[in-house]
This record gives sequence, C-alpha cells and structure tokens, in this order.
Amino acid sequence: DKKAFIDQLMAKMTLEEKLGQLNLPSAGDFTTGEAKSSNIAASIREGKVGGLFNIKGEAKIKAVQDIAVKESRLHIPMIFGMDVIHGYETVFPIPLALSTSWDTALIKKTAQAAAREASADGINWTFSPMVDISRDPRWGRVSEGNGEDPFLGSQIAKAMVAGYQGNLSSNQNILACVKHFALYGAIEAGREYNTVDMSHLQMYNDYFPPYKAAVDAGAASVMASFNLVDGIPASGNRWLLTDVLRNQWGFKGFVVSDYTGVPEMTAHGIGDYQQVSALALRAGLDMDMVGEGFLKTLATSLDESKITQAEIDQACRRILEAKYDLGLFKDPYKYCDADRAKTEVFTDSNKAFAKKAATASMVLLKNERQILPLKKTQKIALIGPLADAANQMSGTWAVAANNNGVESLLQAMKLAVADSSQLYYAPGSDLTADSTLQNNVTLFGKTMPRYTNRKTPEQLIQEALLAADKADIIVAALGESAEFSGEASSRSRIGIPDAQRLLLKALVKTGKPVVLVLFNGRPLTLGWEAKNVTAILDSWFGGTMAAPAITDLLFGKANPSAKLTMTFPQDVGQIPLYYNHMNTGRPLPKGKWFEKFKSNYLDVSNLPVYPFGYGLSYTQFKYGKMKLSDTTLTGSQHLTVTVAVTNSGDYDGQEIVQLYIRDLVGSVVRPVQQLKGFQKLSIKKGQTVNVQFTLTPEDLKFYNSELNFDWEAGDFDIMVGTNSEKVQSATVHWSK
Ligand code: IFM
Repeated sequence: DKKAFIDQLMAKMTLEEKLGQLNLPSAGDFTTGEAKSSNIAASIREGKVGGLFNIKGEAKIKAVQDIAVKESRLHIPMIFGMDVIHGYETVFPIPLALSTSWDTALIKKTAQAAAREASADGINWTFSPMVDISRDPRWGRVSEGNGEDPFLGSQIAKAMVAGYQGNLSSNQNILACVKHFALYGAIEAGREYNTVDMSHLQMYNDYFPPYKAAVDAGAASVMASFNLVDGIPASGNRWLLTDVLRNQWGFKGFVVSDYTGVPEMTAHGIGDYQQVSALALRAGLDMDMVGEGFLKTLATSLDESKITQAEIDQACRRILEAKYDLGLFKDPYKYCDADRAKTEVFTDSNKAFAKKAATASMVLLKNERQILPLKKTQKIALIGPLADAANQMSGTWAVAANNNGVESLLQAMKLAVADSSQLYYAPGSDLTADSTLQNNVTLFGKTMPRYTNRKTPEQLIQEALLAADKADIIVAALGESAEFSGEASSRSRIGIPDAQRLLLKALVKTGKPVVLVLFNGRPLTLGWEAKNVTAILDSWFGGTMAAPAITDLLFGKANPSAKLTMTFPQDVGQIPLYYNHMNTGRPLPKGKWFEKFKSNYLDVSNLPVYPFGYGLSYTQFKYGKMKLSDTTLTGSQHLTVTVAVTNSGDYDGQEIVQLYIRDLVGSVVRPVQQLKGFQKLSIKKGQTVNVQFTLTPEDLKFYNSELNFDWEAGDFDIMVGTNSEKVQSATVHWSK
C-alpha cells in the first residue's frame, strides 16, 4: 500500500534526496524546454528536483522525466506543473467572467477540458483554482478569481477541484492547487503584493470559505500567499498552514510556496535566507517554488537543530504521496503520450465548448430601447482599439494559449452581417493611451508607449467619426488591454483609459445609438458610460472563442444570461464597495443619497453603478409573490421558499434567481445580505417556472466571537430576486 511503499522508498533516501523532493524550479521558458540543457538536468540527475514548472510540450516533458527515472539514483518520477488557469491551448473566459455564468456545472466542465488538454501534453499539476475573495477592483488579480461572494466562490471552488482532479485514476485528470492561501484578495488599497490585516471573524466568515470548500472537495495541494496573515507572511505562518489548514480543516495534501515567497520573507523583515526557510518548513510548507532555500539551507538548519528530521520527512512524504496518488510510481509516463498530445489539444469540440462558455459569461449591463440585438441588415460602424485585436482575447494568465485562427471581433462580425461592405471599421484610439500612465511604461518586458499609433488622437477620432457617419448604429469595442489586469497589474483609477473615453464621448455626440462592447479584467467605473451610451455588453476577456460569442450575443443568436459577481462602483473612492457589508450604527435611510451625520460621502452616493448579481437579458422576467412554507420555525425544520418566474418578453432566455438572507440580530453583527442559494433556469417565452429553495439551520450558521460555527435563534429576512438590490423580502422567526 501507499504507506509501506513510501516507507521503504524513504528508508533509502539520503538527506539531500529528501530535500530534492521539496525543490520546485522553473524550467525558465515555456517553449524552449531549456531545462534539459541547463544545469537543472544535472540537478535532476543528482536527485535534487521534485518537480518542474513552466515547461510546455509532451516531448520535452518526457525527456525531462527520462532523466529523473532513468538517470537519478532512486528513479523517483517528477511532477510537472503549470498555470492552467482558464484553459490550456483552448482558452476559456477569464475566471471572473466564468463566475458570472453562475453555472457551476459549466465551470466544472471548463476545468475538466483544461485538465484533459494539459494532461495530454504532459502536465499533471495545475496552479488553479484561484479562489481569493476580493472586494477591491483596483487589484489586477480579481480577473483570476470568482468575485466578492463567499457562497458562490465556494461552489465554484468545489466545482473546479472536481473538474481538474476527478478521482485522479485517469490520465485525463491532474492535481489541483488552491491558491493563494490566504487572504491575498484583501491586500491594502488593491496594490499588488501589499500587506493584509484582518480580524479572525472576517477571515472565517468571508475570506476562508472558498479555500475550505476546495479542501473539502479533496484539493491535493495548496499554494501559500505572499501576504501577511496576522503579522506573519503566509509562507511562514504555522497557525495558517498547520493549525487552520491541517488541524481544523483536515487537509492531507502538500503546500507549495508562491514562487519566491519563502525568501521574500526576508524583505518582509522576518529573518535571513536560512531563518525564513526553516520557518516555512516548520510552519507546514512542503515545497519551495524557485526560492531554493530548502535545498540550500535546511541541511545546515538541521545540523544546528533549528528544524527536525521529522519535519523534513513529513514534507518529503507529502510530495511522494502526491506522486503516488497521481500513479507516477506505477507509470512515470502516464502523462506522456504523443498520440494524445496530437489529438486532444485545441480540438474543435473544445473550441465549440469554449464558445458556449464565453456566451454564458458575458453580462448585458444596459439595453435602452431594446437596441440589441442588432439586425444583420443594419449598417454598423465597428469602432475601437479592441475591435480588431485577436491577440487581446485570451486575457491574463493564458500561458499555453494557441492563437491559431483566433478571430477578432471585426473578423467575426464580418461573417455575421448580411453585407460586410456595410460594416465600417476604424480603431479610433490607441488601446493603452491614458494620460495617467507614464510615457513608455514597461510592462512584462514590453514597452507601452502612451501613443502606439502613428496618427494623433485627433486624427484617429476623425477617422472613427467618418466611419460612424455612414452607419445606422455604432458598436464601440473599448476597455482594458489584456495586460491591464492579472498579476502585477493594479490600477488606482479603473475607468476606460482616457483616450478611449474621449473617443466614446465623440461617438455619443453623433446622436447615433452606441453599443459599448466592453473588454475588462475587473469591474470598471462606468458612471458616465451607464448614463450616456445606449447599450453595454460586458464581454470581459472571453478566450479563444470570445469574438464569435460576442457576435452571437450582439445579433441575438444567443441571449445574454450572465450576472455580475463583483460590484461595479461609481468611483474609486467608494472602494471597497460590496453587497454583503455590515450595517453601521448610522446607516443612510433607503432612497436618500446624503444625510448629515449618516454614513455616506459628500460627493458620491453609496450606490454602485451595477450591483452584485445584476445582469440583463433580451427577454424580461416577472417575479410573482414569494411564498414561504412557514414564518415561525423551530429546530431543524426546513423553510421552503417558492417564487413563480415568468418569461414575459419576446425571447427564450435564462434567469439566475437569487436567494439572500439577513440575520437581523446576532451575537456578532451580521451582513445586511448574504447569498444562500441561486438557480439558473431556462425559461421559454411565455412560460412560468416555479422556483423552489430550501433553507435549513445549516444555512444560518456563522463563526461567532469564539470562532464557533453555529446558528442563533431569532428573526431572519428572506429575500428573493433578480439581483442583490431588486429583491422581495419577508421575515421569519427561527427558534432552537
Ligand atoms: O501560480 C502562480 C501564482 O499565482 C503567482 N506567482 C507565480 C505562480 C507560478 O507561476
């Protein structure tokens, strides 16, 4: 069995070989497979490497595995990791977009499809899912998460782990890695890699649930985050990595650092290279990504009794167990199959599924006068720097993306319109031009000049107006460039970059209807746009099939059904702005936007532009009166909440019905609203569907001051509706 097998293997291992298992270097380059020729190959031969990441291609991975199993003393196979975040070569929408589908079955299938492609190409471990709750859209990595809600975030975390891992017996499943544990999404001011300080109550109630859900779903690995948790960096935080993760949650897998997170603890100011490496091991971190402190200093720390042999053995065992669970000791080449690599990656069926996922993940934010869907016979001006930008579609963290045949919106729309000579295109502006950026900012080694176009902003706008002049309607493809979100892409202002905004103002001034197709990796401040354009379709970054999906939605071949999972603020000054906040002692009365000595601002109301759970359809949904099975309940009784939803519009459509509660009196203050259920339903035009939710005392539980997870008797508001703001409400009394 597993224990006996690992016992006998570890009995043969030297200290150096054990430390080797804890070492995870980067291959350095995704495409060249540099590892084989660099000194990493020598290290592998000497048993000093447990796994490798950033290497792409089945043949290259097989060559590296050959070194490990044929040339190292104990023939221990390696694991191969990669950031397979939203697809592999076939790219699905960015995670924040996928979360707006509220379709956990679909999200699970995207993880399955990604695992299938990656595993066919030699990868057996993904650094996903990223489940950090965030309430701060300035943080560029909100694009990689599932928004602000712990309940929805937990459902998605579970689905993704199940999608990647299955039961790990097949060669189509890979290890998941839940990240970034913990609280990375709460960095101060949304500034990348910044510090975090949070109460335990908030951790347990709001930020921990998705990590815990992923652990409960059997996630095989966890990645420690860069930030502080209670004053100690996560990578060296024993309370977090051992007391919470292992002792409270029962996690059985291994913990890996986030890149050089271990040596970075020196910059935090918690010790030198040797000290922080020992601290990390003692805290419960098992694998050192890139930092090499484990490899280079733990032997000395052992000599000096700063760590114990048992601590090294424990970490080594966890890595070997993961390899055993993957089946690599039985067959180190389980994931190296040249035929699979040729036939199962970037397939037509995966692309078709990517289109389905993209269509389900774009949010219709506004549709005045039912201007959408467009008619194929309309004369359309397609304007904007994102209109003909196929290379922007994948968004952030799509390291394995295959861009062959990926269409731009212009290309896709040309195929959809009745007469492509009546589709008028102009870029209208530079993509990244913004007066708030420095001239020639360098991002990811690429220089982003303020103005990339040889034409002046005025000339570009003039061209756009000429195109607009010929058309009945303007489609403006604007927003962020893919590099504006993701890691190391925090922004202090989160509007559409200002050169594009000038363009949009000029387009609106023509008086023609303007449909804004938005590309963005985060909520943007859209106050002006929401008032002044005719329609807004938020397409995020939709992946390989983004353009055909947008086109289907614009022309009504598909009906938008996604809803926001993160609040869109009016102004950066309101951040953090989220629906499930606490009440103050001086709340602003409903309907008012300012009252002296209440909790508000002088210069902006407390409202968002678009609230959590918001999104439109081409059809309309009418809600009947909510019915409750009871208004007084005791003990473990169930409450049934029923509401009839009628599709009263002209199209078949899908509605995401949302159930919220508010615990009116608690021993600790409870949020004004908490999502507790949702159902995404297909409803044909004219059809009525009775939607039913069941609530039990389990749904009322929260962590109290003693961090006990329990519910308290009392009154609860029960709310049902189409988004977090538009709900009907009734009160029930629940006694123990
Ligand atoms: O997985 C990532 C992580 O999310 C950010 N730092 C680098 C890791 C490996 O690429």
